[in-house]
Amino acid sequence: MKLFSSVNDVTDLQALVKQALAAKKDPFANQHLGKNKTISLVFLNPSLRTRMSTQKAAMNLGMNVIILNIDKEGWALELRDNVIMNGTTVEHIREAAAVMGEYSDIIGVRSFPGLKDRDEDYSESIFNKFVEFCKVPVVSLESATRHPLQSLADLVTIEELKTRSRPKVVLTWAPHIKALPQAVPNSFAEWMCKADVDFVVTHPEGYALSEQFTEGATITTNQEEALKDADFIYVKNWSAYEPYGAVTNGNEDWMLTNAKLNELAPQAKVMHCLPVRRDLELSSEILDGPRSIVVHEAGNRVWAAQAVLKQMLEAL
Ligand code: CP
Repeated sequence: MKLFSSVNDVTDLQALVKQALAAKKDPFANQHLGKNKTISLVFLNPSLRTRMSTQKAAMNLGMNVIILNIDKEGWALELRDNVIMNGTTVEHIREAAAVMGEYSDIIGVRSFPGLKDRDEDYSESIFNKFVEFCKVPVVSLESATRHPLQSLADLVTIEELKTRSRPKVVLTWAPHIKALPQAVPNSFAEWMCKADVDFVVTHPEGYALSEQFTEGATITTNQEEALKDADFIYVKNWSAYEPYGAVTNGNEDWMLTNAKLNELAPQAKVMHCLPVRRDLELSSEILDGPRSIVVHEAGNRVWAAQAVLKQMLEAL
């Protein structure tokens, strides 16, 4: 694998999930693959889980790891072409990415969307510039429209904990105070549509995701109907795709509670990519109770990253 930016870069989804679960059983079995190889993890935005889990995965594979919080520690990056750099930016992404490629065998990049210009965000212009200029394999650590390492960890978690062969998986919108990207729900939907699950997306009016990610899913604005008999409920806020980045008030009752679960889906396990705002996005009673698998899910981030990096190392 030379590029991991979406589910479309995976040739065999089930094999990748199996490799993640194999890594979980025997984390150091492939240390030889990463010997004398370096991965650089470049963050244009904050991270806890992606940074630590990918670093741990790389170390389990015997790799050296360089981490650059380029938004805070690097020179101010110019991302546009054909501009005279007489403002605040100091270094162009063309040179910066190329130089990072000189120091690295694999590069990981996190680049969030601006949520102002949909065409620009959905063209993945920043992530794609890293891919173009660094000249080494690139793994997405979350880009403007997708978070594939998260989605793989989510799928691994579902495979591990499911109690029937084709579980019902529901992605439900949740309230928030900020406009958040669509990357996690886009990506989760895209992966679930390719997995062997009965997949339902539910959101208030006005929060439909781009159809390119939800083809094959059942979509409804009736949360109650969606949650009925769910095996896994994935809770996440996102801002509108149309009008792009918009948020509307008045959907506070979309927060998941034990009362809703007891009535509609008493067996359901509750997932969230984290970080989560307690009692705004998801109730504390769920997060602190037996239905929540959010920490287990975050733990699986290591094994998802390890499966992807293993395939990248094998292709070097
Ligand atoms: N879920 C996730 O990507 O967490 P971080 O933003 O902390 O990396």
